[in-house]
Amino acid sequence: MTKNRAVKRTRWVRGGLAVAAGFGLVLSGSHALSAAERVDNPYVGADVYVNPIWSANAAAEPGGEAVADEPTGVWMDRIGAIEGNDSPTTGDMGLRDHLDEAVEQAAGEPLVFQLVVYNLPGRDCAALASNGELGPDEIDRYESEYIDPIAEILADYEDTSLRVVTTIEIDSLPNLVTNVSPRETATPECDEMLENGNYVNGVGYALGKLGAIENVYNYVDAGHHGWIGWEDNFSASAQLFYEAANTNGASPDDVHGFIANTANYSALEEDNFAVTDQVNGTSVRESQWVDWNNYTDELSFSQALRDELASIGFDSEIGMLIDTSRNGWGGPDRPAGPGPETDVDAYVDGGRYDQRIQSGNWCNQSGAGLGERPTAAPEPGIHAYVWMKPPGESDGSSEEIPNDEGKGFDRMCDPTYEGNPRNGHNMSGALPDAPVSGHWFSAQFQELLANAHPPIE
Ligand code: GLC
Repeated sequence: MTKNRAVKRTRWVRGGLAVAAGFGLVLSGSHALSAAERVDNPYVGADVYVNPIWSANAAAEPGGEAVADEPTGVWMDRIGAIEGNDSPTTGDMGLRDHLDEAVEQAAGEPLVFQLVVYNLPGRDCAALASNGELGPDEIDRYESEYIDPIAEILADYEDTSLRVVTTIEIDSLPNLVTNVSPRETATPECDEMLENGNYVNGVGYALGKLGAIENVYNYVDAGHHGWIGWEDNFSASAQLFYEAANTNGASPDDVHGFIANTANYSALEEDNFAVTDQVNGTSVRESQWVDWNNYTDELSFSQALRDELASIGFDSEIGMLIDTSRNGWGGPDRPAGPGPETDVDAYVDGGRYDQRIQSGNWCNQSGAGLGERPTAAPEPGIHAYVWMKPPGESDGSSEEIPNDEGKGFDRMCDPTYEGNPRNGHNMSGALPDAPVSGHWFSAQFQELLANAHPPIE
């Protein structure tokens, strides 16, 4: 969710995009296959699990019924969540309770169960809001007390009609590219996680263990365009993903795809400007907003990253997921067309949907709306648009709130904060009065509903 500016020219390989079209061939008849056979795109011909806890929270809000039966990710955000120890973030359902409920929702037909694996040692090394329970060196506990029990439980559901889609460890590997020394954006915590290898080891272990279960489809977190869309970050991140997929028991075959924009706010498609546009001879890439990034939105970024990943050794059939839970940017401020061609900044700022102050802002963004509803196979190379972040769950508290979840107070969640190198020293753009990350944030949910794009019918 952070970024680092790089001022290099674009050079990226295109090609191979059309391969993904093959996933259209796996149609709803696929449940006739044995549960053990992985399909190309698990979302095709399948329903997706509705988390009853999120659904009840959404339905309790005025107007929330309209989206309360959308599928959202189930977050295993700490060891206790596996058994379900009645926390404010996950309620009283453990993993097995969710899977039993999923089997019921499936009623023998294919059903995707979206599971977020999120508990690395030294978690969230460039921020404080989602620091977790495991210290930087506690890789053994991660493996034996977190991944192993999850794998054991999942194995019991291997012969059901469930397709378990995992999101593997958001905000981990890209931090080791952008937020380490000697960059200005470095944090001592990310330097430590690069040094001790425990993000790479943890991701590798998770991929290998979970990938051994035949109905599990692993998707590795790949940040978003406003983080690794710059040339320096893009290829280096892809290389690091490949390294992790060859570490600690993992092989690239354990990777079914990647997910972009998890819990972030980057727009799906910016229709009103493109990186190839020029205004009075100046490239859009030189605008303040784009700032030399090679991408302006998640769709173009995800498709290009997929090509890059295939070109360095991942399977050419991998697919991308894009989290569209909160990147709709609708409502009255949504531009109806391109900005004026007076200069490049007026053109981009007048036309962009993403209303953030800066694309490195990540906490409870003011003005955001629900994005595309979850959809299977929406575009070439994209397995699905998903709501992995349950909309209405906070990204972090806007002031210090004592808690026993290991969550810190990150000033990026404080609307009065003037920023740091990771958001180019801009205001945070966060909503006020937010609870600790993962807790229900009614005011944010209301705003997301009001600013939904596509709008709520
Ligand atoms: C944040 C929280 C985590 C929560 C998740 C989904 O990352 O730290 O506890 O489960 O968001 O809302």
